[in-house]
Amino acid sequence: MHYSNFWLINTKTLLTRALRGGYAVPAFNFYNMETLNAILKAAEITQSPIILAVSESALKYMGDDILMGMIAGAKYKSNQIALHLDHGHSFEICKHAIDLGFSSVMFDGSALPIAENIKISRKIADYAHKFDASIETELGVLSGIEDENTKSKSRSYTDPSIVKDFVKQTGTDSLAVAIGTSHGAYKRKNTKESLRFDILKEITKEIPRTPLVLHGASSIPQKYVKNINKFGGDIKNAMGISPAQIRHAISLHITKVNVDSDSRLAFTSAVRETLSKNKKVFDPREYLKAAQEEMTKNCIDEIQNIMGSGFKI
Ligand code: G3H
Ligand code: 13P
Ligand code: ZN
Repeated sequence: MHYSNFWLINTKTLLTRALRGGYAVPAFNFYNMETLNAILKAAEITQSPIILAVSESALKYMGDDILMGMIAGAKYKSNQIALHLDHGHSFEICKHAIDLGFSSVMFDGSALPIAENIKISRKIADYAHKFDASIETELGVLSGIEDENTKSKSRSYTDPSIVKDFVKQTGTDSLAVAIGTSHGAYKRKNTKESLRFDILKEITKEIPRTPLVLHGASSIPQKYVKNINKFGGDIKNAMGISPAQIRHAISLHITKVNVDSDSRLAFTSAVRETLSKNKKVFDPREYLKAAQEEMTKNCIDEIQNIMGSGFKI
Protein backbone atom coordinates (compact mmCIF):
# COMPACT_ATOMS: atom_id res chain seq x y z
CA MET A 1 0.00 0.00 0.00
CA HIS A 2 1.36 3.46 -0.86
CA TYR A 3 1.79 5.88 2.07
CA SER A 4 -0.60 8.37 0.48
CA ASN A 5 -3.39 5.87 1.21
CA PHE A 6 -2.74 6.62 4.85
CA TRP A 7 -2.44 10.25 5.96
CA LEU A 8 1.34 10.48 5.93
CA ILE A 9 3.76 12.90 4.33
CA ASN A 10 7.10 12.36 2.62
CA THR A 11 9.87 12.97 5.19
CA LYS A 12 11.79 14.93 2.56
CA THR A 13 9.11 17.61 2.54
CA LEU A 14 9.36 18.01 6.31
CA LEU A 15 13.15 18.17 6.24
CA THR A 16 13.27 20.68 3.39
CA ARG A 17 10.99 22.99 5.37
CA ALA A 18 13.07 22.48 8.51
CA LEU A 19 16.33 23.30 6.74
CA ARG A 20 14.78 26.48 5.41
CA GLY A 21 13.30 27.35 8.80
CA GLY A 22 16.37 26.60 10.93
CA TYR A 23 14.74 24.04 13.19
CA ALA A 24 14.76 20.23 13.43
CA VAL A 25 12.03 17.65 13.05
CA PRO A 26 12.12 15.12 15.88
CA ALA A 27 12.13 11.44 14.97
CA PHE A 28 10.69 9.63 17.96
CA ASN A 29 10.82 5.81 18.05
CA PHE A 30 7.78 3.77 19.05
CA TYR A 31 7.02 0.09 19.50
CA ASN A 32 3.44 -0.26 20.75
CA MET A 33 0.13 1.56 21.05
CA GLU A 34 1.13 3.55 24.13
CA THR A 35 4.38 4.88 22.72
CA LEU A 36 2.70 5.73 19.39
CA ASN A 37 -0.11 7.56 21.17
CA ALA A 38 2.36 9.38 23.40
CA ILE A 39 4.12 10.82 20.36
CA LEU A 40 0.92 11.68 18.50
CA LYS A 41 -0.43 13.51 21.55
CA ALA A 42 2.74 15.60 21.70
CA ALA A 43 2.45 16.35 17.98
CA GLU A 44 -1.14 17.44 18.45
CA ILE A 45 -0.46 19.68 21.44
CA THR A 46 2.56 21.39 19.88
CA GLN A 47 1.35 21.25 16.26
CA SER A 48 4.89 20.13 15.46
CA PRO A 49 5.94 18.11 12.44
CA ILE A 50 6.96 14.65 13.62
CA ILE A 51 8.68 11.58 12.23
CA LEU A 52 7.35 8.33 13.64
CA ALA A 53 10.38 6.02 13.67
CA VAL A 54 10.18 2.23 13.64
CA SER A 55 13.34 0.18 13.95
CA GLU A 56 13.67 -3.23 12.30
CA SER A 57 13.27 -4.89 15.68
CA ALA A 58 10.24 -2.73 16.55
CA LEU A 59 8.66 -3.71 13.23
CA LYS A 60 9.19 -7.36 14.08
CA TYR A 61 7.86 -6.79 17.61
CA MET A 62 4.60 -5.16 16.46
CA GLY A 63 4.13 -7.09 13.24
CA ASP A 64 3.15 -5.50 9.90
CA ASP A 65 -0.61 -5.69 10.34
CA ILE A 66 -0.82 -4.37 13.88
CA LEU A 67 1.56 -1.53 13.07
CA MET A 68 -0.24 -0.41 9.92
CA GLY A 69 -3.61 -0.92 11.61
CA MET A 70 -2.55 1.47 14.36
CA ILE A 71 -1.38 3.99 11.76
CA ALA A 72 -4.63 3.70 9.80
CA GLY A 73 -6.68 4.18 12.95
CA ALA A 74 -4.48 6.79 14.65
CA LYS A 75 -6.26 9.05 17.11
CA TYR A 76 -4.53 12.12 15.72
CA LYS A 77 -3.76 12.46 12.04
CA SER A 78 -1.88 15.33 10.51
CA ASN A 79 -0.26 16.18 7.21
CA GLN A 80 2.94 16.97 9.12
CA ILE A 81 3.67 13.40 10.17
CA ALA A 82 5.90 10.87 8.41
CA LEU A 83 6.40 7.14 9.02
CA HIS A 84 10.05 6.15 8.81
CA LEU A 85 12.02 2.91 8.94
CA ASP A 86 14.93 3.48 11.32
CA HIS A 87 18.22 1.63 10.67
CA GLY A 88 17.16 -0.63 7.81
CA HIS A 89 20.06 -2.95 7.07
CA SER A 90 19.15 -4.32 3.63
CA PHE A 91 17.43 -3.46 0.35
CA GLU A 92 14.75 -6.04 1.17
CA ILE A 93 13.68 -4.55 4.51
CA CYS A 94 13.63 -1.01 3.06
CA LYS A 95 11.53 -2.17 0.08
CA HIS A 96 9.23 -4.01 2.47
CA ALA A 97 8.69 -0.87 4.55
CA ILE A 98 7.94 1.27 1.48
CA ASP A 99 5.52 -1.39 0.22
CA LEU A 100 3.77 -1.39 3.62
CA GLY A 101 3.18 2.38 3.48
CA PHE A 102 6.23 3.97 5.11
CA SER A 103 7.00 7.40 3.69
CA SER A 104 10.75 7.10 4.22
CA VAL A 105 13.46 4.63 5.08
CA MET A 106 16.94 4.80 6.50
CA PHE A 107 19.49 2.51 4.95
CA ASP A 108 22.24 2.03 7.51
CA GLY A 109 25.23 0.91 5.49
CA SER A 110 27.65 2.64 7.82
CA ALA A 111 29.45 -0.57 8.73
CA LEU A 112 29.90 -1.62 5.08
CA PRO A 113 32.81 -0.81 2.77
CA ILE A 114 31.99 2.52 1.13
CA ALA A 115 31.46 1.06 -2.37
CA GLU A 116 28.91 -1.39 -1.00
CA ASN A 117 27.20 1.32 1.04
CA ILE A 118 26.89 3.47 -2.12
CA LYS A 119 25.62 0.59 -4.27
CA ILE A 120 22.81 -0.46 -1.92
CA SER A 121 21.91 3.12 -0.98
CA ARG A 122 21.51 3.94 -4.71
CA LYS A 123 19.32 0.93 -5.29
CA ILE A 124 17.05 1.85 -2.37
CA ALA A 125 16.97 5.52 -3.39
CA ASP A 126 15.80 4.54 -6.89
CA TYR A 127 13.10 2.32 -5.44
CA ALA A 128 11.95 4.90 -2.87
CA HIS A 129 11.86 7.73 -5.40
CA LYS A 130 9.66 5.69 -7.74
CA PHE A 131 7.01 5.95 -5.02
CA ASP A 132 7.78 9.52 -3.97
CA ALA A 133 9.18 8.20 -0.69
CA SER A 134 12.57 9.27 0.60
CA ILE A 135 15.79 7.76 1.88
CA GLU A 136 18.27 8.62 4.61
CA THR A 137 21.74 7.14 4.44
CA GLU A 138 24.70 7.19 6.81
CA LEU A 139 28.40 7.88 6.55
CA GLY A 140 30.71 7.27 9.46
CA VAL A 141 30.05 4.96 12.36
CA LEU A 142 28.26 6.33 15.39
CA SER A 143 30.49 6.27 18.39
CA GLY A 144 30.97 7.75 21.80
CA ILE A 145 33.95 9.67 23.06
CA GLU A 146 35.22 6.46 24.66
CA ASP A 147 36.05 5.12 21.23
CA GLU A 148 38.30 8.02 20.54
CA ASN A 149 40.55 6.78 23.30
CA THR A 150 41.03 3.47 21.57
CA LYS A 151 43.48 2.84 18.75
CA SER A 152 40.92 3.60 16.05
CA LYS A 153 40.95 7.28 17.11
CA SER A 154 38.27 9.36 15.32
CA ARG A 155 38.21 6.96 12.36
CA SER A 156 34.51 6.56 12.77
CA TYR A 157 33.59 10.23 12.46
CA THR A 158 32.07 11.22 9.14
CA ASP A 159 34.76 12.30 6.70
CA PRO A 160 33.68 15.68 5.28
CA SER A 161 35.82 15.23 2.17
CA ILE A 162 33.64 12.40 0.84
CA VAL A 163 30.12 13.54 1.67
CA LYS A 164 29.51 15.50 -1.52
CA ASP A 165 30.38 12.57 -3.75
CA PHE A 166 28.41 10.19 -1.56
CA VAL A 167 25.25 12.30 -1.78
CA LYS A 168 25.64 12.63 -5.55
CA GLN A 169 26.29 8.95 -6.16
CA THR A 170 23.57 7.62 -3.88
CA GLY A 171 20.85 10.18 -4.64
CA THR A 172 20.10 10.24 -0.91
CA ASP A 173 17.60 12.75 0.44
CA SER A 174 19.28 13.19 3.82
CA LEU A 175 22.51 12.11 5.46
CA ALA A 176 23.13 10.82 8.98
CA VAL A 177 26.47 11.99 10.31
CA ALA A 178 28.75 10.70 13.05
CA ILE A 179 30.01 13.65 15.08
CA GLY A 180 30.35 12.13 18.53
CA THR A 181 26.90 10.88 19.51
CA SER A 182 26.13 7.26 20.34
CA HIS A 183 23.00 5.19 20.86
CA GLY A 184 21.66 4.33 24.29
CA ALA A 185 21.74 5.89 27.75
CA TYR A 186 25.50 5.90 28.41
CA LYS A 187 26.89 8.47 25.99
CA ARG A 188 29.04 10.58 28.25
CA LYS A 189 31.35 10.25 31.23
CA ASN A 190 31.13 13.94 32.12
CA THR A 191 29.29 17.06 31.03
CA LYS A 192 32.36 18.63 29.42
CA GLU A 193 32.56 16.27 26.45
CA SER A 194 31.55 18.01 23.24
CA LEU A 195 30.23 17.05 19.85
CA ARG A 196 32.62 17.62 16.93
CA PHE A 197 31.12 20.86 15.64
CA ASP A 198 34.26 21.42 13.57
CA ILE A 199 33.44 18.31 11.52
CA LEU A 200 29.77 19.27 11.26
CA LYS A 201 30.69 22.73 9.96
CA GLU A 202 32.89 21.20 7.26
CA ILE A 203 30.12 18.81 6.22
CA THR A 204 27.62 21.67 6.04
CA LYS A 205 30.02 23.62 3.85
CA GLU A 206 30.33 20.67 1.45
CA ILE A 207 26.60 19.87 1.20
CA PRO A 208 24.68 22.98 2.25
CA ARG A 209 21.40 21.84 0.74
CA THR A 210 21.31 18.34 2.21
CA PRO A 211 19.34 17.88 5.42
CA LEU A 212 21.58 16.26 8.04
CA VAL A 213 20.48 13.74 10.65
CA LEU A 214 21.70 13.26 14.21
CA HIS A 215 21.29 9.77 15.63
CA GLY A 216 21.92 8.99 19.27
CA ALA A 217 20.71 12.46 20.21
CA SER A 218 18.95 11.71 23.49
CA SER A 219 19.77 14.13 26.28
CA ILE A 220 19.07 11.51 29.01
CA PRO A 221 17.16 13.81 31.42
CA GLN A 222 18.69 13.27 34.84
CA LYS A 223 15.31 13.57 36.56
CA TYR A 224 14.32 10.27 34.94
CA VAL A 225 17.64 8.63 35.71
CA LYS A 226 17.26 9.64 39.37
CA ASN A 227 13.63 8.50 39.54
CA ILE A 228 14.35 5.13 37.97
CA ASN A 229 17.20 4.57 40.43
CA LYS A 230 15.02 5.77 43.31
CA PHE A 231 12.27 3.29 42.51
CA GLY A 232 14.35 0.16 42.14
CA GLY A 233 16.25 0.61 38.87
CA ASP A 234 19.99 0.60 38.38
CA ILE A 235 21.17 2.94 35.62
CA LYS A 236 23.50 5.04 37.72
CA ASN A 237 25.91 6.44 35.16
CA ALA A 238 23.45 7.24 32.38
CA MET A 239 24.30 10.57 30.70
CA GLY A 240 23.40 12.13 27.35
CA ILE A 241 24.08 15.03 25.00
CA SER A 242 23.22 18.41 26.50
CA PRO A 243 20.23 20.20 24.95
CA ALA A 244 22.49 23.21 24.29
CA GLN A 245 24.79 21.08 22.13
CA ILE A 246 21.90 19.62 20.18
CA ARG A 247 20.49 23.11 19.60
CA HIS A 248 23.90 24.21 18.32
CA ALA A 249 23.99 21.23 15.96
CA ILE A 250 20.54 22.24 14.68
CA SER A 251 21.89 25.69 13.87
CA LEU A 252 24.49 23.89 11.70
CA HIS A 253 21.93 22.06 9.48
CA ILE A 254 20.97 19.08 11.62
CA THR A 255 17.31 18.90 10.57
CA LYS A 256 16.28 15.49 11.92
CA VAL A 257 17.05 14.58 15.52
CA ASN A 258 16.55 10.95 16.58
CA VAL A 259 15.32 10.31 20.09
CA ASP A 260 14.51 6.92 21.54
CA SER A 261 16.31 6.49 24.88
CA ASP A 262 14.72 9.62 26.44
CA SER A 263 11.25 8.23 25.70
CA ARG A 264 12.21 4.87 27.20
CA LEU A 265 13.42 6.62 30.35
CA ALA A 266 10.29 8.77 30.70
CA PHE A 267 8.09 5.72 30.20
CA THR A 268 10.00 3.45 32.60
CA SER A 269 10.33 6.15 35.23
CA ALA A 270 6.54 6.48 35.39
CA VAL A 271 5.97 2.71 35.42
CA ARG A 272 8.42 2.21 38.30
CA GLU A 273 7.06 5.12 40.30
CA THR A 274 3.41 4.14 39.83
CA LEU A 275 3.99 0.54 40.81
CA SER A 276 6.20 1.40 43.77
CA LYS A 277 3.75 3.91 45.19
CA ASN A 278 0.67 1.78 44.58
CA LYS A 279 1.46 -1.70 45.75
CA LYS A 280 -2.04 -2.95 45.07
CA VAL A 281 -2.11 -1.90 41.40
CA PHE A 282 -2.07 -4.78 38.95
CA ASP A 283 -4.13 -3.39 36.08
CA PRO A 284 -1.55 -2.60 33.36
CA ARG A 285 -3.74 0.23 32.09
CA GLU A 286 -3.03 2.19 35.25
CA TYR A 287 0.73 2.24 34.93
CA LEU A 288 0.70 2.35 31.12
CA LYS A 289 -1.47 5.47 31.25
CA ALA A 290 0.99 7.16 33.59
CA ALA A 291 3.87 6.06 31.35
CA GLN A 292 2.23 7.34 28.18
CA GLU A 293 1.53 10.70 29.79
CA GLU A 294 5.10 11.07 31.01
CA MET A 295 6.46 10.21 27.56
CA THR A 296 4.17 12.82 25.99
CA LYS A 297 5.42 15.39 28.50
CA ASN A 298 9.01 14.66 27.57
CA CYS A 299 8.33 14.77 23.81
CA ILE A 300 6.64 18.17 24.25
CA ASP A 301 9.57 19.41 26.29
CA GLU A 302 12.07 18.36 23.61
CA ILE A 303 9.96 19.77 20.77
CA GLN A 304 9.76 23.13 22.51
CA ASN A 305 13.18 23.39 24.11
CA ILE A 306 15.46 21.50 21.71
CA MET A 307 13.96 21.05 18.24
CA GLY A 308 12.27 24.44 17.94
CA SER A 309 9.66 22.73 15.77
CA GLY A 310 6.44 23.54 17.63
CA PHE A 311 3.78 25.42 15.68
CA LYS A 312 5.72 25.12 12.41
CA ILE A 313 4.11 24.46 9.06
O1 G3H B 1 18.76 3.45 16.94
C1 G3H B 1 18.09 2.51 17.35
C2 G3H B 1 16.84 2.72 18.08
O2 G3H B 1 17.08 3.24 19.36
C3 G3H B 1 15.98 1.49 18.10
O3 G3H B 1 16.51 0.46 18.82
O4 G3H B 1 16.35 -1.82 17.73
O5 G3H B 1 16.12 -1.55 20.21
O6 G3H B 1 14.30 -0.80 18.68
P1 G3H B 1 15.80 -1.01 18.86
P1 13P C 1 19.13 7.55 21.38
O1 13P C 1 19.55 6.20 21.90
O2 13P C 1 20.11 8.60 21.74
O3 13P C 1 17.75 7.91 21.78
O4 13P C 1 19.17 7.46 19.78
C1 13P C 1 18.06 7.02 19.05
C2 13P C 1 18.36 6.82 17.61
O5 13P C 1 19.37 7.25 17.07
C3 13P C 1 17.37 6.08 16.83
O6 13P C 1 17.78 5.89 15.51
ZN1 ZN D 1 19.93 5.66 15.36
